[in-house]
Parts: sequence; structure tokens; C-alpha cells
Amino acid sequence: MKSNPILLPFFLYALAGVRAAPQAARAVDAEPATFTANANVGPGGSSFKDSDHFRVYNADSAAATSALAMLEGAYECFVTKLGWRSSGLSYNSAADAAGPWYKTNIYSVSTLEGAAGVMQSDATAGLGYLEVVAEYLSTPGVTVHEFGHALHYHQQTWVGQGNTGAWWETLANWVADTYTTSDLCADARTAHGETGTADAIELPKVIGDSFQVIVDGSVDTGNYYQAWPFFTYLTNNPDNFGGLGSDTLHQLMVQYSKDSNETPLHTLARVASNATVGEIVGRYWARMAYADIGHPTAKDLFIAQRDSINFANLDSQGSGSYKVKSARQPKYMGSNIIPLTTSGAATVAIKVTTTGVYTGTVAVRNTSTGAVRYVTLSSGAASVKVSASEEATLVIANTPAEPILYDGFSLSSDVTKGLDYTVTISGATV
Ligand SMILES: *[C@@H]1O[C@H](CO)[C@@H](O)[C@H](O)[C@H]1NC(C)=O
Ligand SMILES: *[C@@H]1O[C@H](CO)[C@@H](O)[C@H](O)[C@H]1NC(C)=O
Repeated sequence: MKSNPILLPFFLYALAGVRAAPQAARAVDAEPATFTANANVGPGGSSFKDSDHFRVYNADSAAATSALAMLEGAYECFVTKLGWRSSGLSYNSAADAAGPWYKTNIYSVSTLEGAAGVMQSDATAGLGYLEVVAEYLSTPGVTVHEFGHALHYHQQTWVGQGNTGAWWETLANWVADTYTTSDLCADARTAHGETGTADAIELPKVIGDSFQVIVDGSVDTGNYYQAWPFFTYLTNNPDNFGGLGSDTLHQLMVQYSKDSNETPLHTLARVASNATVGEIVGRYWARMAYADIGHPTAKDLFIAQRDSINFANLDSQGSGSYKVKSARQPKYMGSNIIPLTTSGAATVAIKVTTTGVYTGTVAVRNTSTGAVRYVTLSSGAASVKVSASEEATLVIANTPAEPILYDGFSLSSDVTKGLDYTVTISGATV
């Protein structure tokens, strides 16, 4: 479903600074099977339908049933299985496992200005609630996306931190996609009668505009709604980086340095135990050469869509030398994904020249099996044997070792500065 909800920045500002002093943690008591309804959160009303952890107001019965099933499925996956702090617990409470627990309210509305759904919060109660346009109630890309916002609100640490702001949309879309497609949520989907659908990944944007800052909230041109495959990569952790895996996004909130206004990449530097953020991002982009990130459908979708992706990153200077186009220079933690053309078996030799800090990788795909192997450039160079049954792509990522503080809604010159480079290639052409 391509009707991604547009969540206007005003709601982020509305949340800024609402954080009250947490109350002292109370004794741990067991989470009840059914939470208490709280009609004071949002406008309330007399027309509603309940499930154990949610209440949907003002929807027709079928739409309410459908929304409740996917919300319960998402709750079961993210809270019960993956251990995220419950959406039933007040934002204002320091407790992670002591009630009271309240249902999350969802209001079906006829219209929202410029959005299919929006997450709101009641600062006094410390409870998030959702408004969803009626026709989208049964669409996980809207309803579970908005629940994703409620989830990260209730994790507490990203709230009021402007440098996480643009990442909220990335996270909410990752929650929606993980709920609908990931094996991690398969049991939860089955338990609530849901079948996964998997068409949300926007490869022409993610790959075709991979030169952009990794999470960029710029109006109309940004990638913050599309950048979530990076989170899928961290979660699936196909390269076995220490500290990463199915708990990574949760840990990006648990280990967020309180009130520091750091970016999620700063947190990632602590969550990852034996790799720098630059190494992780460099390998992520190498894997995006063929969408090889452990997502159930992305690899096949890449093959179907590759002809419509913009790969025009370099200008030929003759004699196998190429220079990156100035408008496509990789910005902070962005990349160029450069398919190479070989003819029969070849030894492809690459030499990159730049003064910038980058990660260079050659991704080599077996065209009969789809399996991809990765060769990292060393001292700017690699020599890779590519057989007649393989194809290769060069990936150059702008990967400073240390993360930079930046606000995705207001990019600073230190993150928009592109990586300038030239590359000579023998054994293949671009
Ligand atoms: C990092 O840690 C993981 C998990 O312990 C391990 O599998 C991997 O080999 C380590 N990588 C390096 C480069 O040390
Ligand atoms: C590609 O995969 C096929 C099928 O497993 C295998 O026979 C072939 O050797 C592979 N090609 C290379 C270059 O590894």
C-alpha cells in the first residue's frame, strides 16, 4: 500500500517538552490479561469496540474488528514477544512492569489534514492515542504505523529529543513492515488471523536516492518514511555484528542516553559491541546492492524493479576512469550503488581515490541462486574474480567512524557535505 500516512511535524512539536518527572518505580506486579479502558484519553464517546489492550471508537463494527486484530497482533509481537515497554503503561511512570495498565484508544475519524493517521498523546495521563481516517483502519501501513508511534512514545527516551524526530517515521514504518512481513511476528499474525502482505518497501527511493543522508526529513525530497530497511538490516543482522539482532530497535530506545538529544546512530554505537557505526552502515549499503537484508520479499522485488531504479551516479572520464556526479555525491551515511557490466568471466579491479572517509564494497551475485558475496575494498582497492554466472555492483558509502549530531528536519552542512571521489575500473564498465 503506497498511501503512506503523512505525519505532519506539528505533532512532534506538540510532544516536545511534555515529559514530566517520572514517579518512583513501584513494586513489580503482573500485567493483567485485559487492560482498563480510559475514556478521558482523547475525546471519548459512547460508540466503541474493545479488545484486551485497545479500544476503537466511532468505527463500524467490521473495521473496528479488523483494526483490533492487527493492533493485538502488533502488541503481541512487539510487547509480549520482543519485550518493548507496554503501551498500557503511562509515559509519566518510571515503572516498566507495574500498572495501572490502560487500553490504547483509537478514534476513527472522517478526515485528517494531510494525513491518513496521526498519533496524539494526553500529557497528563501519559498515554498515547491514535486518530485514523475510517477508510484506513484496516490498513496496517496506517494503523500499525500509528501504533508504532505510540510504542516509541511509551518507550519514553526519544520523546522531546529533536535529533530523533525524523527517525520516528522510519521507526513507525519499520514497525508496520515488521508486523506485516517478518518471521518475528508470524506467530502473532497467525494468532490474530492476519496474513502478511509485503509491498511497502520503496526500492527506487531507497536505492535510487541512496546518496541522501541516511535519514533525511526534508519536505518532499527526504527519505525518512522510506529509510526503514536499515532497521530491518539491524534487526535481521545477517552479518552477525555483536550486540545486534531482533532486540536492536528496542535497545536503541533502552540505551538512548537520557535527555542527550543524541541521534539513534549515537545509541547504535553503544548497542553494537564490535563494529563502528560506519562499518555497519557500510555493509548495510553493500547489501542494498541486491536488497540482501533478510527481508522476505525485498530481494525478489529488487529483481523485478531494478530497471526502474536510477543508478546514474558516475560520469565517465575515459580510460576506465569515473568521477561521481556532484549532485549524487554520498552525503552522511549515504552511498552510491553502482552496477558493473561484465562480459563473461572477468577479473574486476577497482581503485578509489578520495580524501574522504568511506567504506567500499563489491557485491557479487550468483545469478542462478541469487546468493551474494561481499568483498571489502582495502586501501581503496579490490581485485575480484567474477564468473560468467555472476554479476557485480560497486558500493561506496560515506561512513565517518564517529556519528555526527544532526536534526533530520534541518540538515546541517556537516551532514550534507558529499563524498567526492574518482574510481578506476578494469574488467568491467559502469
Ligand atoms: C562480533 O561479535 C559477534 C557475536 O559475538 C561474532 O559472531 C563476530 O564474529 C564478531 N565479529 C568480529 C569482527 O569480531
Ligand atoms: C552459482 O550457484 C550455482 C548453483 O549452486 C553453482 O553451481 C555455481 O558454481 C555458482 N557460481 C559461482 C561462481 O559460485
